[in-house]
Order: sequence, then C-alpha cells, then structure tokens
Amino acid sequence: YRSICQSLRHYCNQSSTKLRVSEALAGAELGKNVRVQGWVRSVRPQKKNIFLHVNDGSSLQSLQVVGGAELSDPLLTFGSAVEVTGTLRKSPHPQQPVELGADQIHVVGECNSVDFPFKIKERHSLEYIRQLPHLRCRTNVFSSLLRVRSEATTAVHSYFKSNGFLQIHTPTITSNDCEGAGELFQVEPSGPDFEEEVNFFSVPAFLTVSGQLHLEVMSGSFSRVYTFGPTFRAENSQSRRHLAEFFMVEAEISFTQSLEDLTKVMEGMFRSTTEHVLAHCADDVGLFHKHVTPGHRDRVDAMLKQSFPVITYSEAIDILNRSSENFTFPTDWGCDLKTEHEKYLVKHCGDVPVFITDYPYDLKPFYARDNQDQPKHTAAAVDLLVPGVGELCGGSLREERLSLLKARLEDVGLEEIYSWYLDLRRFGSVPHGGFGMGFERYLQCILGVNNIKDVIPFPRFSHSCLL
Ligand code: 4AD
Repeated sequence: YRSICQSLRHYCNQSSTKLRVSEALAGAELGKNVRVQGWVRSVRPQKKNIFLHVNDGSSLQSLQVVGGAELSDPLLTFGSAVEVTGTLRKSPHPQQPVELGADQIHVVGECNSVDFPFKIKERHSLEYIRQLPHLRCRTNVFSSLLRVRSEATTAVHSYFKSNGFLQIHTPTITSNDCEGAGELFQVEPSGPDFEEEVNFFSVPAFLTVSGQLHLEVMSGSFSRVYTFGPTFRAENSQSRRHLAEFFMVEAEISFTQSLEDLTKVMEGMFRSTTEHVLAHCADDVGLFHKHVTPGHRDRVDAMLKQSFPVITYSEAIDILNRSSENFTFPTDWGCDLKTEHEKYLVKHCGDVPVFITDYPYDLKPFYARDNQDQPKHTAAAVDLLVPGVGELCGGSLREERLSLLKARLEDVGLEEIYSWYLDLRRFGSVPHGGFGMGFERYLQCILGVNNIKDVIPFPRFSHSCLL
C-alpha cells in the first residue's frame, strides 16, 4: 500500500508545479495543479471537508487548504510538516484571495501536539518563546521578526551600495581592543592537539569588539567603506539592550570636513532602511505594531517626519540639569550619559532620534579627534539616541594628526602596539571618521521590541549560550 502511495505521489508530483505559499497567495498558477510544502498552523476536520492552514515561512499569511473528509489523518496536527498537492483556485472568502483544493495531503513529519510547546490559536509572549530558541521560529511573531531582520539587512547593504561604499569583510579574530574598554573574549584553541598550553597566534587574540580600525586601514585607499557583521563584548550585563554577540553596521569615510559628514550618513541609512522595511514587510511590521507594541507605527512615522535634531553634549547636560527629573546618576559636565539621561533627552527633543555631539575628550577612546577647545576639553564624537532604546550609533572623527595621536597613545601606553595605526597617519593621512550602529537596537527601535534578546535568532549574553 505504501509503495503504491509513494509511486502515485511521485507521479502526481511530476506534473505539479512546486510553489511557495507567498507565490500561491499572490495568485501564481491559479487554476493549475500545484504542490505546496510547509507546516500546519491550523487544522479543522469537518464532516465533509478538512480545512488546514499551511505556512512555509515565505509570508506571514498561511495558505488555506481544503480537502475532502477522506484526506483527514490523525497525524495532521498543529505543527506537523506536510506536502499538499491540488488545484489553486479563487476562494469564496474575501479575506483569503486563493485556496488550495487538495487532492493529496502527505504528512512529511509528525508533530505530537500534546508535547509541542506552542498551542493552536494561543498568543505566546516573547518571554515565553525566548526560552525555546530551537523552536521559536515556528511562531508567527518570530518568523515575522526574522523576515524583517533579513529585509533590513538587504536594505542596509543597498543603502551603502547606492552611496558608493565598498563592503569590507573585517576579521572576527583580532589582536586589537579598538574600544579600549577591556570587554574582550580571548580566543585560544582546544582539542587533543592543544593539550599543552600553547599560544596559537603568538600574540593574545580576541573576538572583535569593532571592525573600525580595519575599516580605517581600508578608508586610506577606498574613501568610503563599510562592514556588517558579528561583534563581541564581554559585558557582564543582563540589560534589555546588551548582548555578548551582536551585529554591528560600521562605516568609515575619508576626506571629512565636520561631524555633519557622519550625521548625514547615519540619518540617511536610518531613513532609507526604515522606509524600505515599512514598504517591503508591511504585514510583518504590522504584526508587531498591532499586537506587540500597539501604536508604535505612529512613533516610527514621527521619527521619519523631520530631520534629526543635533545638540552638543554641553547643551544636553544643561537640559538635564534644568529638568525637574530626579536622576539616579549624576549629570555634571564630564559624566557619561546613562540610559535614564538618554531617554529624557529623546523625549525632550520630541520623541525623535537626536544626535549628541562633542563629548568630553576623556570619555572617548584614543582614536577620537581632539577638538582642542579649552577649558571644556571635548572630542569630535557623536552618538545617535533613539526613542525607546537610547544609544543606537556611536561615531567620531578620527585623530588624523600624527603628533596628537602619538601623544595620546603614549599617554595610555599603547604606542608600540599601535605602531601600524600610526603608520596610517604617516603615509597619506586624511581627515576621516566613521560610526557603528547596533543592528539589534535598530530593530528594537523600529519594531518597538523591549528586549534585545527578542530580535536576534540566537541570543548570547552572560550565563546564557543556548544551542
Ligand atoms: O559605541 P560603540 O562601542 O562604538 C564602536 O564600537 C565604534 N568603534 C564604532 C565605529 O565608530 N566604527 O558601539 C556602536 C554601537 C552602539 O551605539 C550600540 O548600538 C551597539 O553598537 N552596541 C551594542 N549592541 C548590543 N549589545 C552590546 N553589548 C553593544 N555594545 C554596543
């Protein structure tokens, strides 16, 4: 019996066109014999018919499948994998343009719905599904997130391509601590060949905290470069906006004249990526804006309405000190801005993204350009703060003057390690600058997601490295 069924199936499949659910819903192959593969999102056996919804991840919408009652099978459960062959036809229901009239429904993979951690028609919280990293892509909300993430990635690349940037694959393993914050994961080999203590690279090697210094190398030849890849920080934080592994978009631009050359690119990238995602992932973004953070769409629209305000760090400190808010952390000139300060500043500026420029020199890493102003000594650095998240981008003009850079590196005892970096200032140095944007924080901002762990496929943070 099985063998006859298999032969029949093989025969039928030969003559049917394989379609993605999104293609079927768009009306491709209407009236034709097609084959759709996916996972059951709902199942309703009735007296005369069986109704299924099948989803293959190509769209938020599932395809309705209607078959005769003889196609019912106890193995057809919520979560099971199926292959359906039949005719695609117009549906009598206005909210569902097409349906698949099934001739055959084959259960490819069973799913025990009693043990399956997701239940039909139940809306599971992000906190609940986060505990199931190997299964959460089976939920509507997380598959929407992953489609938005993928589309936003495409949009970032296309922004840089259309603005003359060259993509550079910066290394994951590096010997520098670009940010100088000591938040490094050290890399050492393990395994039977390495039982004795060895220093594989002959120098201490780490997972990258930023591709900036490698981009600076390349900007000395290509003028406009960017990278987009995994970045690692050994931050012992359980906060809702920190990960141990996150994705960072970084750009470096040569022949800059002022911070405005950077803010233009930061704002341009934010706008064009967001407009692209809103246009190309309307259903998926809509799911977040309707069910996860109702009302967030208005906030995103407001972000895109006007150009982003720019204030200096000194102005920001004045604003904080004039406010009647009771901040936990100090707001004296020279203090680092904390999340509570960033939130207040964003609200103060109208709940839109805001640039803060010219931070105290001592707060910024060795590469930041000295503004040489007195008595309030600042660096030409800029952060972009956004609603709901706080710091989204961090950037600066880089110190391109050899004597100043050398003096700063000497001060922190890094002159020898960074002799190659000083060479960049010796041979054809130009004013330049760049920035980095946390990709997960960007997704949090446009989707209104509270916890960063809910916008990355496999979150890594202190005390957690599941899968
Ligand atoms: O401000 P950061 O540390 O800047 C740099 O690394 C520069 N070297 C970038 C450059 O100029 N090329 O990090 C940039 C952004 C932050 O604004 C934040 O959005 C994100 O990276 N970020 C994190 N995102 C998630 N988890 C963490 N632990 C993060 N640390 C930074």
